[in-house]
Amino acid sequence: MTLRLNDRYLKDFISDEDYAQIAPAIERAHRTLTEKSGAGSDFLGWTSLPDGYDREEVARIVRAAEKIRESCEVFVAIGIGGSYLGARAAIEFCKSARYNSLPKKTPDIYFSGNDLSASNLAELLELCRGKDICINVISKSGTTTEPAVAFRVFRELLEKKYGKAGAAERIFVTTDKSRGKLKELADQNGYETFVVPDDVGGRFSVLTPVGLLPIAVAGIDVYAMLDGASSAKKTYSDCDLQKNDAYKYAAIRNILLRKGKSVEIFATYESSLAMTAEWWKQLYGESEGKDKKGILPASVTFTTDLHSLGQFIQEGSRILFETVLDLLNSSDRLEIPFDETDSDGLNFLSGKDLHYVNRTAFTATAMAHVDGGVPNIVLELEKRGAFEFGYLVYFFELACAISGYTLGVNPFDQPGVEAYKKNMFALLGKPGEENERRRAELAKKI
Ligand code: PA5
Repeated sequence: MTLRLNDRYLKDFISDEDYAQIAPAIERAHRTLTEKSGAGSDFLGWTSLPDGYDREEVARIVRAAEKIRESCEVFVAIGIGGSYLGARAAIEFCKSARYNSLPKKTPDIYFSGNDLSASNLAELLELCRGKDICINVISKSGTTTEPAVAFRVFRELLEKKYGKAGAAERIFVTTDKSRGKLKELADQNGYETFVVPDDVGGRFSVLTPVGLLPIAVAGIDVYAMLDGASSAKKTYSDCDLQKNDAYKYAAIRNILLRKGKSVEIFATYESSLAMTAEWWKQLYGESEGKDKKGILPASVTFTTDLHSLGQFIQEGSRILFETVLDLLNSSDRLEIPFDETDSDGLNFLSGKDLHYVNRTAFTATAMAHVDGGVPNIVLELEKRGAFEFGYLVYFFELACAISGYTLGVNPFDQPGVEAYKKNMFALLGKPGEENERRRAELAKKI
């Protein structure tokens, strides 16, 4: 078992009748997805990635990653949203949130171009000083401002340091196969390029070159990751939600939403899973938050956040439910020491494995939150590894598609993301008639 949905903490909130009532909608969503008859059906390429991925492209990714590992100390992955969250989540999930600080034979990996903070970029340039650098700029559209700005800065740095031809050996581009400014630039300068398939949206793209190149640079087995996704695809093929945990997760979310639970908190008890929660937030937030509908996805890392958000979860507005990613086995064993004086009164824990204590904290918390009126969906994850990450990705993507169709939205578009961009371009003085018109409109409101 890689992943199992445990509904132990849902019994007070969801009845057999609730499941029976939602089952037809889940079956309809299943048909919509498998028959490719719903909104956004042009973007279902992620369903065939686990077993239908481009073998040649993945082999080329593995070769490029080897070259990168041999030629640099710092690897900078430049991208935003779906063009960075999956890779970062995977690296922290499979390795550590402290990947850069721990001893390793692979380069330090930094993610840039995911904000417009001057300090963030300046600090990263400082960290890169005197080090050999390779970069991977990742943008499906090739026009997104945040990564485009960071790329311009790093391209200049690399060209000054290595010359134009030397820089070209160290710049890797992941973008559309033929369209966009980034593709043009890559072709002009002879950068090695990887393709984001047309039919895979950003937040569903971690198992394409978007995620796989940075993941491979970290020394993670990308084939094991794809195998994990393929295994999940086989496991979750039945449309009966009582036999299909991905569908059951989608069903539970929609049942709880109909009962007024409009915020889902993704909880983990491991800092290495915090970025997986960030990836999950984008997946569900962008897929479902539209047409004035959706569940607001939030996240916490426990037990840390029990000392910040714990109070609200226990006793605040009763609009919440939690989805806990419960890691059954830790890769590390750490025994709590015995102390003769027992001055801290902790000898009752001596000899116990810290992971056991962490999991007991989870049980205690789940019981308390359920008593406080917060349903808990528990996803038991066997362990952390490349296979498991790939498995989890497919589980959540599939559940997201089914959940979105059950909710009655197109889970594969993100029209709302454009609103801030239009205002920003207008305010920044981007040329063009439409920008000028908007600038005049905004000026009246400021
Ligand atoms: O999920 C999405 O589509 C978005 O989050 C995009 O990934 C993000 O906006 C970045 O877009 P692009 O890869 O075109 O730069």
